[in-house]
This record gives sequence, structure tokens and C-alpha cells, in this order.
Amino acid sequence: MLAADVAGNWVFSVPGPDGTSRDTYFRLKQEGGKLSGVVQQGYNNRTIDNGTVVGSHLKFDTSFTGRGQTVTITYEGDVTGDELHLKTSGGGGRAGGFPGGGRGRGGPAEMIAKKTGDTVGLPPARIEPPALHPVKYNGLAKTPPMGWNSWNHFKGQIDDPGVRGIADAMVSSGMKDAGYQYVNIDDTWEAQRDAGGNITTNKRFPDMKALADYVHSKGLKIGLYSSPGPKTCANYEGSYGHEEQDAKTYAAWGFDYLKYDWCSASAIYKDEEMHAVYQKMGDALSAAGRPILFSLCQYGRANVQEWGPSVDGNAWRTTGDISDNWRSMSTIGFGQNDLAKWAAPGHFNDPDMLEIGNGGMSAVEYRTHMSLWSMLAAPLLAGNDLRTMNDETKEILVNKDVIAIDQDKAGQQGHRASQNGDTEIWVKPLADGGIAVALFNRGEAGADMKAAWAGLGVKKAKKVRDLWAHKDLTGAAEGYSTTVPAHGVVMVRVWK
Ligand code: GLA
Repeated sequence: MLAADVAGNWVFSVPGPDGTSRDTYFRLKQEGGKLSGVVQQGYNNRTIDNGTVVGSHLKFDTSFTGRGQTVTITYEGDVTGDELHLKTSGGGGRAGGFPGGGRGRGGPAEMIAKKTGDTVGLPPARIEPPALHPVKYNGLAKTPPMGWNSWNHFKGQIDDPGVRGIADAMVSSGMKDAGYQYVNIDDTWEAQRDAGGNITTNKRFPDMKALADYVHSKGLKIGLYSSPGPKTCANYEGSYGHEEQDAKTYAAWGFDYLKYDWCSASAIYKDEEMHAVYQKMGDALSAAGRPILFSLCQYGRANVQEWGPSVDGNAWRTTGDISDNWRSMSTIGFGQNDLAKWAAPGHFNDPDMLEIGNGGMSAVEYRTHMSLWSMLAAPLLAGNDLRTMNDETKEILVNKDVIAIDQDKAGQQGHRASQNGDTEIWVKPLADGGIAVALFNRGEAGADMKAAWAGLGVKKAKKVRDLWAHKDLTGAAEGYSTTVPAHGVVMVRVWK
């Protein structure tokens, strides 16, 4: 039998309902009966293991580690003419998919790849990042940004009617009145660039200007998402090499907020270069002729809190992605203590978006989530479906007493004042000289807790209010003793 031409670069393209496609490359090398190479999605490579070729038949494994588990996928198939037919097995139903790539869509278990040029799909050539200089403050986010973002609930399923519905619900639910303002489209709105290099939108977002006009007509603001890399985290088009052009496009569409997510920039730049790379978009936004809130998303790497303000980052993510469960939320939230000193009006630490109402935590735990984020002066970006939320979720999100703590003008982040086993007392200094105090119980059973104001910055309180019970407390001038439920919180405001 003639040896099949297995070696080379094969591409498998999955067209999506939004009219764009996600590509997987098989970069194969053959030495006799041995097959090696990589499977590439985005710019993530998985090495080919145990690869064999017999005639035109090939078989190989790839492995990845996700959530502490190593998963192996086996590919097997044949080269037929200029097509590579592959079937996958293993991977717990994720066969053909790829962790971190093409999220929001599982890949099919059968695929037909086509031969393509060796360099197709490789990262583009490096563009030198600019020399460092401070970017002028845009005057935004004097208090932490408030609004909504599509990712936590919708992932890749967000579209124009969905965004309009969310804007409507933000108004009708009372969230707008409570201070929520930005309606932010996360990843998966993008399509390719046109002949002039302008970014275009996919079928789910037929007219960004019209959408922005609609959201503005509700008295709200609108945001979107991109990456300093050539591809976004979901493997859509990023802003690499088009920063100024994209900033102008966002301004022309009428956008007010940009979340800028590192992801594939790591195929080109080192973490030490993040400062300069983010500065490039900071400069582009400040030259775009419209105030656009700049939200950095690079998972807290490279000590972002130290340089975030100088690229005019109004907020910077401090962690990897949150998930809708107690462990993820509490690990992130209670892990922010050391960053307290970096928060200030205009520039805030961002422990990621809210999961309140997404169903994976109890109401008690979601109250802890809302309280903790407010103590941290964190951006309050709801991540649920506002159109269908129940009253319990709404009451948590629109608690004006708690929101007032997040939005306090001093812009100071709270910190852990004391810890005793599973219980923690956090304090946040407020602009009026008072304090917010949160008594958190991370344990599995109710706990009796006691806080004394003197040690937290107020000698004798004029007034003390329970911010979830919405009532002023009597006999609490010097401190307060209470029982805090498992995973719960009691949050009070103390007036000097
Ligand atoms: C990263 C970010 C998320 C979200 C996705 C979109 O994982 O951290 O918040 O924006 O990318 O692909």
C-alpha cells in the first residue's frame, strides 16, 4: 500500500450559528510508523502522545489537566485524499472540544479536517510593545463600576435581543434606581475584520450602534469585550495590532466600557510586558474621543495592582474566573485582604463578576457574596439573567444599604480585622468617618460572634444599622453580639 501523506497542517473548522467558525489545527509529523506533533486550538497546543500511522490509518492521544484531573482524548481515523477523517473517544464527553477554547460550544466527536499551509493558524509576528509612560486618567469609576455582564450566565449564547431584554429588566427591576448602570457584552460578539481592518460583528449582533442607542435610551450605558491578543479567550477576533482602530470603532458605536482580556496575548508577550501592552489600549481609548471605562482582565498576574492605575485601568481583575459555588466565591472573596491598599477612587481591584441568582449557591451564600464584594469596594456586575430572576435574587442585588457601602465615596477597600477559626470580622472605613462591619461565618454551623467598634475605628456609635434586616439596632453603641448562620453574614453600618 502507498504511504499516506499524513504529515502537514490540517484544519478542522466548526461553523457556529453566529456565522463565525472555531478552528482546530492538527500539526502532524510522521517518521515511519510513528506520529508526533500538536493539536492546536486558539494558540493552545496539546502534544500528541502514542501516535501511530499504518498506511493511511492513524491513532493518537492528547491529554489536558482541568480541575485537578488529567483527561485523555484518543483520536483515530484515516486520510482519504485531501481529507483527514477523525473520531474521538475519552474526555468525558468533551472529545473534540478543548479546555479553554471554543467555550460555550462542545466540539463534535467526529470531524473532517482539510490540508492547509504549514503557517496557517500560527500566531502572527510580534509587535514591540511601547515604552512606558503614564496614561491620563479618564475621570471614570470614582466609585466601583456597577452593572451587568453576559458571561457568567450566557457564555457564548448572548445576542442583541438578549442584551435589550437585560437593559429593559435592569430598569423594571429597580436595579437602575439602585445604581446599576453598565450593560456589558462579554466575549463572542466578534466576527472577522473587513478589508480595511475594521472589526465586524457576527450574526448575533447585527448593529452595534443601534444596540448602544437602545441601551442609552433607557438611561443606561453599554460595554463590550476584547483582547490584546490576536484571539479572545473564546477564540474570537482580538485587538492585536488594531488597538487604535478598535478604540475608535467602539467610540463610534457609542460604547462606554471595555473589558480587555489577556488570553492569547500570552502566545506573543511575556507577563512582564503586560504593563506596556495594556498601556497601548489605555492610550488608544484616551485618544478615541469618548470616555470609555477600561477594565483589565489578566487574572491578577504581574502585580497588576501596582501598574493598573498608570495605564488608566479603572478596574483590574485580581484572580482567575469565579464559578457559581461557595468554594470558588469564598476562596476568591476572602483572599483579597492583601490588596486592600491598592483600591482608590478611579481604580479598583476586581475579584470578578457576581454569581448571585445563577443557582449554584443558597440565598444565605449569595448575601455573603454581595456583602463581601461590597466590603471590598469591588465592581458590582450582576452575572445572572435579569429578565427571569426571582424576588429573592432581586432583593439581594438591589439592597441599597449594602450598595451604599460598596459605593462609598472614599473608595477604600475593606480588610480583615480579625479571624477566629471559621469566623472573620471585616471592616471598611467610610467617607463620613464611620465604618461598615461584616461578621462572616465561613463554617458549616451557626456561630455566635461579637464585634466591638472601638478596635475598628469608632469609639462610640451614634447609630448602628443592620444592613440586611434593614433596621437600626438598639444597645449597640459600643459593639454587637449576634448569631451568624453557616456560610452567612451579618453586616452593619456604624455611624460616628
Ligand atoms: C476569560 C475571562 C472571563 C470571560 C471569558 C470569555 O475566561 O476571565 O471573565 O471574559 O474569558 O471568553
